[in-house]
Amino acid sequence: MSDRTPIIAGNWKMHRDHLEAIQLVQKLAYHLNEVDYEGQEVVVCPPFVALRSIQTLIQSDKLPIGLGAQNCHPEDEGAFTGEISVPMLARLDVSYVICGHSERRALFGETDADVAAKARAVQRHGLRPVLCVGEVKEEREAGRAVEVVVSQLRGSLDGLTIDDPDALVIAYEPVWAIGTGLTATPDDAQEMCATIRAELGERVGSQIAAAMRIQYGGSVKPGNIRQLMAQPDIDGALVGGASLSSEDFALIVGHRR
Ligand code: PGA
Repeated sequence: MSDRTPIIAGNWKMHRDHLEAIQLVQKLAYHLNEVDYEGQEVVVCPPFVALRSIQTLIQSDKLPIGLGAQNCHPEDEGAFTGEISVPMLARLDVSYVICGHSERRALFGETDADVAAKARAVQRHGLRPVLCVGEVKEEREAGRAVEVVVSQLRGSLDGLTIDDPDALVIAYEPVWAIGTGLTATPDDAQEMCATIRAELGERVGSQIAAAMRIQYGGSVKPGNIRQLMAQPDIDGALVGGASLSSEDFALIVGHRR
């Protein structure tokens, strides 16, 4: 058993308007018991336009749920039409910002350097990046998964300060497992998360790396969460599709019951 506090986060992607978002979090809170929040962090990452509503709900109902954003711009302000800065997110009590999700890398052309710039901005304002890395199917089949993930990790961590294990969270998300119903086997997921921890050790020293949190993401469901969480180097989950169902996400969060 490690003393790393697991973190289960729901990445809603471009789903739910702010009214639906309120309902989803209210239902989630209804399904969860006090013990489900103990010893682990529960986080939701709704679309930007729902952050204010969820912030208010969390505050007024005193819900032990953290708030995350799905993206940000690396600059604090400026002529960047359509973008959202980290100071804006900080004002909404956002604690985590997903950086470098594979959809942003693949569909919006984000490079490791872009991801690192965003993650640095997140850190600059005292929030925590959830830094995503993961290989595509062809890379895994070609035996290049480790090489790809390590290279993404090095590039995306460029210039980041990690003098505290809580400075950021890593999410290992094999791209072929995202939204496909295919999950990495718990052994494969463990192997890569252990590799990531070893690589972090090279970068920040093994003591800090041992205390950092590494999530697995990619078709996490109520039926596979226990096996994944039982792995020694997996400290949580980044959940996409299943986080849109309050019942399923509550079962995932409540997997220790
Ligand atoms: P999924 O998405 O759970 O729907 O596979 C995970 C993610 O993209 O973070």
